Amino acid sequence: MSTERELLVVGGTGMLRPAVHDLLGSGARVVLVSRRPERAAAGAPDRGRLVPVAADWSAPERLGEAVREATGGRPMAEALLWVHTPYDEGVHASLDPLLSADATVVQLWGSAGADPRLSRPLPGQYAPPRAYRSVVLGFADTARATRWLTDREVSDGALRALSDAAPEQIVGRVEPWSDHP
Ligand SMILES: NC(=O)c1ccc[n+]([C@@H]2O[C@H](COP(=O)([O-])OP(=O)(O)OC[C@H]3O[C@@H](n4cnc5c(N)ncnc54)[C@H](OP(=O)(O)O)[C@@H]3O)[C@@H](O)[C@H]2O)c1
Repeated sequence: MSTERELLVVGGTGMLRPAVHDLLGSGARVVLVSRRPERAAAGAPDRGRLVPVAADWSAPERLGEAVREATGGRPMAEALLWVHTPYDEGVHASLDPLLSADATVVQLWGSAGADPRLSRPLPGQYAPPRAYRSVVLGFADTARATRWLTDREVSDGALRALSDAAPEQIVGRVEPWSDHP
């Protein structure tokens, strides 16, 4: 039986690219879903473990089929999701049969427009023994003001959430929200 770590990452070619590269560098296999997933290959330490899946989250059923084809139906034990709302709901439904019974799912929530905690649907697919963790992307302090997080900071927060069991995590800070950049 293979003990290779394998993760599903949706939306991993932007701010999550450093996380994807770290995972590849650690020897994990990454099934990466986006419209142009090959973009994640640039600068990747081990492209051989990158499994690009071209799919659009606005067509979640096709996205699920594409992932199933790429994984051969092997259940995924870990997933890292960056999906714009409201498309995340369809993506949760389409990935549900592709995840293992005790999968760990980390979903990132942006916060550039509004405090994301004001409207956060709780996905119904992730009851125990699955573990669902939401990671809110806040902002960081500079000497004089605040700024949005860097891709590296976002990626570090996402990677941490894969091993930190806290169900709600914040990268940077969100309080008081009026401090945001
Ligand atoms: N709070 C903070 O400090 C902070 C920091 C960074 C970002 N953010 C939040 O994140 C936002 C940046 O958002 P972003 O979405 O541009 O992030 P991004 O991570 O830079 O890029 C979007 C990712 O989603 C994929 N994607 C986009 N549309 C898709 C679709 N229809 N189907 C499948 N995959 C798709 C993209 O790949 P493809 O183009 O190949 O599909 C890419 O991998 C900011 O506006 C903010 O809300 C917040």
